[in-house]
Amino acid sequence: MKKYKICVLGGTGFVGKHLVSRLAGEGHYVRVLARHRERHRDLLVLPTVELIQANIHNESVLKKYFAGQDVIINLVGILNETCHSGKGFQRAHVQLVQKIIQACEANKVSRLLHMSALNANSKKKISHYLLSKGQAEDLAHIIDTLQVTSFRPSVIFGPGDSFFNRFFNLLRLSPFVMPLACPQARFAPVYVGDVVGAFMYSLHNASTIGQRYDLCGPRVYTLKQLVQYTGRFFSYQRKIVGLLPVLSKLQAYIMEYVPGKPFSFDNYQSLQVDSVCKGHFPAIFASKPRSIEEIVPLYLARHSQRDHFDIYRRYAQQYLRHR
Ligand SMILES: NC(=O)c1ccc[n+]([C@@H]2O[C@H](COP(=O)([O-])OP(=O)(O)OC[C@H]3O[C@@H](n4cnc5c(N)ncnc54)[C@H](OP(=O)(O)O)[C@@H]3O)[C@@H](O)[C@H]2O)c1
Repeated sequence: MKKYKICVLGGTGFVGKHLVSRLAGEGHYVRVLARHRERHRDLLVLPTVELIQANIHNESVLKKYFAGQDVIINLVGILNETCHSGKGFQRAHVQLVQKIIQACEANKVSRLLHMSALNANSKKKISHYLLSKGQAEDLAHIIDTLQVTSFRPSVIFGPGDSFFNRFFNLLRLSPFVMPLACPQARFAPVYVGDVVGAFMYSLHNASTIGQRYDLCGPRVYTLKQLVQYTGRFFSYQRKIVGLLPVLSKLQAYIMEYVPGKPFSFDNYQSLQVDSVCKGHFPAIFASKPRSIEEIVPLYLARHSQRDHFDIYRRYAQQYLRHR
């Protein structure tokens, strides 16, 4: 199998770490450009991985590090911006892809694997996130000199994800009842291993060039069902109370101004469209996508074991105090 030189942007994130370790496992030479190299030293244990601190928004930096590469993989994405105008999404998604294209052209790198998102749409503004993702995807695909494959997943799950782990932590903080915005929003969660599999297949198969693949898992759930499912990993049940649309909207407006933006108005707008595919997982990737029931217990159950230890610790402290 051919060994490629691959430069990965966004290789330090959830999907990035899974993908980079698969690429290294196949013996490819992987160059990861990172904002904070020190935070991701775990990647350095992978033998063929080079981790470089770099400002990827600087075009000359990209030109320098794309030199000699066979393939570029772009996984950079944000769900929230620090401002409220959409400029942050434009910078992280659209302007970055413009710079990637220029750096590819300058170095005669012709292959780009690009991560987009399901429902990304440059023609219709659902949210700043989905609009900018759609614009970035279209921009990459109209360039003649680039051989682009795009991936458009629904929500991705797996060890280290920010979906199930986030709801797990929120449930942990909600003693009895958890209010949930947009409870009827629908998703078809797709396993990170299947998403990574699609990238790996595309790397080796020219038939994927020019294609945009929607990636969904085997089943559709409402957000409320997914949070209820997460709740099963606790020793006692919390009640999930779905908020009405007007209260969901209000919660989004308020959270928009909470530090760290745990939920935003833009997230709320993205949730107004179901994140589900029209067809099955692309047959070309020859894999039967895994379900949450097969995978999620393997990592959430580990957290809940830790929870049990916390409970034992609390009992022990109470016992010592009252002795
Ligand atoms: N996870 C999902 O459910 C899902 C679903 C659909 C599509 N996607 C898309 O898949 C891609 C990867 O998602 P993920 O879950 O792995 O996200 P993630 O864990 O948040 O990782 C995002 C990556 O992008 C980098 N990044 C973000 N903003 C940046 C900026 N302004 N400048 C430079 N680097 C920046 C991060 O670097 P740091 O490590 O320095 O923060 C990280 O490497 C994204 O494009 C996302 O939109 C994800």
